[in-house]
Amino acid sequence: MTQGRPLLNRRLAEFGTTIFAEMTALAVRTGSINLGQGFPDTDGPDEIREAAVRALRAGHGNQYPPGPGVPELRTAVAEHQQRRYGLVYDPDTEVLVTTGATEAVAAALLALLEPGDEVVALEPYYDSYAACIAMAGGTRVPVTLHPHDGAYRLDLDELRAAVTPRTRLILLNTPHNPTGTVLTRDELSAVAELACERDLLVVTDEVYEHLVFEGEHIPLASFPGMRERTVTISSAGKTFSFTGWKVGWITASPELVTAVRSAKQFLTYVSGGPLQYAVAEALRLPDSYFDALRADLRAKRDLLSTGLAEAGFGVYEPAGTYFVTTDIRPLGGEQDGLAFCRALPERCGVVAVPNAVFYDHRDQGAPFVRFAFCKRTEVLTEAVSRLKGLDMR
Ligand SMILES: Cc1ncc(COP(=O)(O)O)c(C=O)c1O
Repeated sequence: MTQGRPLLNRRLAEFGTTIFAEMTALAVRTGSINLGQGFPDTDGPDEIREAAVRALRAGHGNQYPPGPGVPELRTAVAEHQQRRYGLVYDPDTEVLVTTGATEAVAAALLALLEPGDEVVALEPYYDSYAACIAMAGGTRVPVTLHPHDGAYRLDLDELRAAVTPRTRLILLNTPHNPTGTVLTRDELSAVAELACERDLLVVTDEVYEHLVFEGEHIPLASFPGMRERTVTISSAGKTFSFTGWKVGWITASPELVTAVRSAKQFLTYVSGGPLQYAVAEALRLPDSYFDALRADLRAKRDLLSTGLAEAGFGVYEPAGTYFVTTDIRPLGGEQDGLAFCRALPERCGVVAVPNAVFYDHRDQGAPFVRFAFCKRTEVLTEAVSRLKGLDMR
């Protein structure tokens, strides 16, 4: 406190330390298996790591790269969008490299929102969304995904009802963290129609685009009328298992890219020069790389989901991402996911994260807990065996 005022800006007052930092610190302190934070426990492809080493040695990107990102990466992003989805973007005017998807979300919201604008976002939501909406002076309007028959689904009527004359944009995330929901073609089509009808922008976070086990990932920008009003975000962290590199990007119309770049240039300006060259190579890996990644994570999803069900959890098997959401109520007597997660390391040496922190309507998320399965098979097997011992303690 100075001058009788709290130090922290009031827009950020409601945001403490992120749950990932708290739970990862708890994992380290107790020596637990960390299935909380979504980072793989093995690095991505050797050849991509070597590409980064080569770029460093060759002096590629060791000084400030160009503001929009190195041309090699922008071209690789544009080629990727065309090869995978048939979406054509101009690498010079319609691609912007960012410091991970996190900065892309922040820059997009800071650029596109005026104070008082409403942002419709799917709840539970990735925790940076709420903070970035707040930093931009916007108001978040959550639309809750409801658990039903073993999966979380978007209620399109609730989505439509959430839009008001003050709504500026919809902040979408598919495949969805933490529920693992992959929005279907019909759902996305309804979102697109709504956005066009109400003249809304959409910022869509598609960082798990390559981690889909059921159904398919369809970029929102591919729907009629959406290319001009959609900022699509992705990043290398999840797809190439280099979450520490923080190389992300947006694809959008030249006008949207220019707006987002105006905010981004004053956040980090640029980052990760040599890594950008390596990610350009990664995006050009053959389909077999992406297929193998998906197959590996599908097997791990099955291992962890089955193990959690056998341990007594209610399991929402994810169609995408590398997270599984569970219901702790069937364990008997457990109701409060936050208390459960804080106690779990002491009880059985495993760390998870409580879904409640991803909700405005905390009661809706209270009994749900998220486990990450982007870990080595032996780690998941050991975690399952510890979790099976839970009730006996
Ligand atoms: C939905 C979602 N968006 C963005 C991010 C952050 O991406 P990056 O590490 O590229 O900033 C994550 C990471 O967990 C995520 O789950």
